[in-house]
Amino acid sequence: MDHIANHPATADMQASDAAHHLHPFTDTAALNEKGARIITSANGVMLRDSEGNEILDGMAGLWCVNIGYGRNELADVASRQMRELPYYNTFFQTSHPAVIALAEKIASLTPGDLNRTFFSCGGSDANDTNIRLVRHYWASLGKPNKTHIIARKNGYHGSAVGSASLGGMEAMHAQGGLPIPGISHIAQPYWYAEGGELSPEDFGLQAAQALEAEIERLGEDNVAAFIAEPVQGAGGVIVPPSTYWPEIQRICDAHEILLIADEVITGFGRTGAWFGSETYGIKPDIMTIAKGLSSGYQPIGGSVLSEKLAAVFAEKGGEFNHGYTYSGHPVAAAVALENLRILDEENIVSTVAKDTGPYLAKRWAELGEHPLVGETRSSGLMAAIELTPDAAARAPFAESGSVGPICRDHCVDNHLVMRHVGDKMIIAPPLVITKPEIDTLIERAFKALDLTLKDATAQGLMKSGSR
Ligand SMILES: Cc1ncc(COP(=O)(O)O)c(C=O)c1O
Repeated sequence: MDHIANHPATADMQASDAAHHLHPFTDTAALNEKGARIITSANGVMLRDSEGNEILDGMAGLWCVNIGYGRNELADVASRQMRELPYYNTFFQTSHPAVIALAEKIASLTPGDLNRTFFSCGGSDANDTNIRLVRHYWASLGKPNKTHIIARKNGYHGSAVGSASLGGMEAMHAQGGLPIPGISHIAQPYWYAEGGELSPEDFGLQAAQALEAEIERLGEDNVAAFIAEPVQGAGGVIVPPSTYWPEIQRICDAHEILLIADEVITGFGRTGAWFGSETYGIKPDIMTIAKGLSSGYQPIGGSVLSEKLAAVFAEKGGEFNHGYTYSGHPVAAAVALENLRILDEENIVSTVAKDTGPYLAKRWAELGEHPLVGETRSSGLMAAIELTPDAAARAPFAESGSVGPICRDHCVDNHLVMRHVGDKMIIAPPLVITKPEIDTLIERAFKALDLTLKDATAQGLMKSGSR
């Protein structure tokens, strides 16, 4: 790998980082005691840290580096765009070639009649946009009371005030008095933990019908939209039972509720189709996109609207009093367009569908034979394992969340990034991961599980708790 610069010594960078940098989703005291791991370069699926370790990135950064690291084409496009037009806005009746081309390309890739994009800088602000979009839509149609949005417990839609409110993460709501009014949360389709004695199919129906009950409780004239991720990502790669999405779609259609598919993770090939909506048969009115749109090389996201919504904005909406300085930023747009060209021309999505996705599913399932594992599941190139002291009972640990972090640390020590969500271990590698690299990933995961079992046993953590 080429290196840009001679960096300061690791300890010096860690001290500076501890003094001046407040990290997202981080316990600052714990981090400062340990010092951050500093990633200095990356290529393909491999990260390199400041100590020279080569680490397999099982998470594609934060589920975003779909085409892998080190694609110079994107750097070249960014450089060209910066020289030609580094910035101009898309407010007040102006546009520029990069954003025009990107919006057209997105329309050609997204399913159905999702043809018009409102751009943001990432997923959080796109979902904040969605709150305003759906309310403005219904108000424009003379239904100003249709404002309430139904979302799900343990969903993740971002960290801004609106998007964190749409999310169903209790720990996030506890900080800052969320959710904001006008948003409520129904049960998630998480069969492993919440399905009890029901079959996954029956449980999927039951979880979906919670939406109908919530619409009836609120009155459908007051409900604007339902938002959900096709597969919950940050909640722990929760793959819904096959019955879930068809029933959700039926309920949204029957009650005139807009359906927002948050495809920030599942978009751009992650599930083996261009969009999770195709994998799960969802017909969204709005699709949230970010992450894989630029493979993380530039911050960009958006809300893609169906023709039904776009027509109302075009004909009745008047001025939409909303926008970000960087909506449709030219450099981000040009880089995203180049990323989509690579995803498309190199058949990366169909490779996930036909080759690496099925291969990962097969190899990942082997982890289910490990005594610490209660379930394995995957969708394309996103996957999870449930750690448990008692696989037959699908039991949680008595001390919930105590074993996942041990496993995460063993993974990193064995040069694999695998994330923990409580006692679930999850991966979402770059979509360009090869079969030999998947073999390496599985081998390192097995080793980490062995070491975790040893530690958890020694620390007396292998006791079952109750849900
Ligand atoms: C489904 C989903 N929506 C929204 C977001 C927020 O996106 P961002 O971090 O780009 O604001 C994320 C981030 O992980 C996500 O997973």
